[in-house]
Amino acid sequence: MTSSNPLEIAQLGAEVLRLTAMPVENISAPETQQIITLMLETLSQSEGVGIAAPQLHVNQRIIVIASRPTKRYPYAPSMPATVMINPCITAHSEQQEKDWEGCLSIPGIRALVPRYIDIEATYIDLKGEPQSTRLTGFPARVFQHEYDHLDGLVYLDRVTDSRDIISETEFFKRLA
Ligand code: NI
Repeated sequence: MTSSNPLEIAQLGAEVLRLTAMPVENISAPETQQIITLMLETLSQSEGVGIAAPQLHVNQRIIVIASRPTKRYPYAPSMPATVMINPCITAHSEQQEKDWEGCLSIPGIRALVPRYIDIEATYIDLKGEPQSTRLTGFPARVFQHEYDHLDGLVYLDRVTDSRDIISETEFFKRLA
C-alpha cells in the first residue's frame, strides 16, 4: 500500500525526538490505529528496519521492529514486522557489543553503537494483548534503538567515540 501523502519523518533537531513519549491509554482508539498504519506504511516505503511513533511526530510509546534485509541493512535477518505498544525492557545481558546503526531521522550518517546482545521485553500487541519476547543480536539492537526514541534519545547519544561516526557513503564502501 502506498500513501499519496506520506508523513514527513521528523529529522534530528525536531523537538518531538527529544521528548519522553506518553504511554498509549486506548489501543483501539482510531488515532492509535491510524498512527500504527502510518508507521507500517512508512517502513514499507523506506529501507528502514524499525520506526518509533515520535519519528512521525506522534508523542506515544509505540514502536515497530521489522528486521529484514534491505538496501540500508543488507545483512539484517528476516522477522515479521512487530508492533509493540508501551514496550518495556525487563532484562538484558550484561554484555554489550558495538555494531553499525543508522536512523531515518538522521540521514547520511552511520555509527558504531554499543547495545546489549540479549534483551527480554514486554509490550502490548495490536489486539491489546500483553506479550513478552526475547530478542538477540540485530533484532535486539533494533528494539533498543527504537525504544530509545520513546525516551527522547537518538543513537548518536550512545556513541562512545566520535571516530565511530561515519558517512553513509563510507559505510556502503566498507560493506562492498
Ligand atoms: Ni531511529
